[in-house]
Amino acid sequence: MKIVITGGTGFLGRLIAERALDRGDSVTLFDIAIPPDGLGALEGRAEMIAGDIADTEMVARVIEKSDAVVHLASMVSAGSEADFDAAMRVNIDGGRAVLEAARANGPHTKVLFTSSLAIFGSKAMPACVDGMTRPVPQNTYGMTKAVMELLINDMSRKGFIDGRVGRLPTVIVRPGKPNTAASSFASGVIREPLTGDVCKLPVAREMQLCVGGYRTCADGLMALLDAPAEDFGDDRVVNLPNITTSVNEMIAATEAVADRHGISLGAIEDAPDDTIRAIVGSWPIALEASKAIALGCPQDSDLETIIEAFVEDYF
Ligand SMILES: NC(=O)c1ccc[n+]([C@@H]2O[C@H](COP(=O)([O-])OP(=O)(O)OC[C@H]3O[C@@H](n4cnc5c(N)ncnc54)[C@H](O)[C@@H]3O)[C@@H](O)[C@H]2O)c1
Repeated sequence: MKIVITGGTGFLGRLIAERALDRGDSVTLFDIAIPPDGLGALEGRAEMIAGDIADTEMVARVIEKSDAVVHLASMVSAGSEADFDAAMRVNIDGGRAVLEAARANGPHTKVLFTSSLAIFGSKAMPACVDGMTRPVPQNTYGMTKAVMELLINDMSRKGFIDGRVGRLPTVIVRPGKPNTAASSFASGVIREPLTGDVCKLPVAREMQLCVGGYRTCADGLMALLDAPAEDFGDDRVVNLPNITTSVNEMIAATEAVADRHGISLGAIEDAPDDTIRAIVGSWPIALEASKAIALGCPQDSDLETIIEAFVEDYF
């Protein structure tokens, strides 16, 4: 299969690319710039094209003759909240560029899009959201994801594309530096102490959130890419499996893993940030994911296994 991955040099893009290449797919990474430190394990294995996702002509050329597009390029949550116009350009104009390019390529073209729990919000939201919970996003990022979900469902219904959407929980543990996601602390509270750095924690330690391990989420996205179109029914959107945890539990799990590996942990300092608290506090703490599990998406067992994977892969 010939796969184009937009946002392909980011966190999830690299994980999807590795999985696709390992099973023999050909992969083109499309991203805003060639990373200054190169493509790491993907160097020489994947084609890399630099460009802007809102450049409709270029996106059409890149997607032409592909079998599938994994559309990950996006402004993330805090960045989108800080700049509405940029979020509209990248997430909506860029999203439409991808969908129209896929449509022009033909109805066989699979488009896998990553949505987010950030589409949910409002005071009326239940603690655990299911496939029928109404999305009422309380941030611009979530709004752009909700718009894309609707577009993909309708363009699939019309037979223009073969769309699939995985709604992700907060994926942990992101390696490297923090990004501008409001949920960035969820990786930082594990990563920074493990690497001996100080973590500035913007939220309360009692706060609950729903997370997924990066291996499980990437495997789940691959399962959605491969699932027969008819198995999605009339809704191409699927909540990916997740686990509910608190920041305190994440800290305790990190301590347990560090103890097993003899790692001395960096400090965690409370640094309350009202903007981050408001965005993350509006999100649900559990996503009902039985449809994803029926489609073959795996489920994490526990936090310590997720953190062990991070130590194994990135230390
Ligand atoms: N990681 C998570 O916890 C999470 C949770 C929910 C949804 N998602 C969604 O999954 C996708 C991938 O997430 P990620 O964690 O890999 O993010 P990331 O920030 O690591 O990767 C996104 C990539 O998009 C690229 N990009 C941004 N603007 C672009 C533009 N104008 N043109 C071309 N490329 C551009 C960035 O350079 C980056 O490499 C995103 O759509 C994100 O919203 C992620």
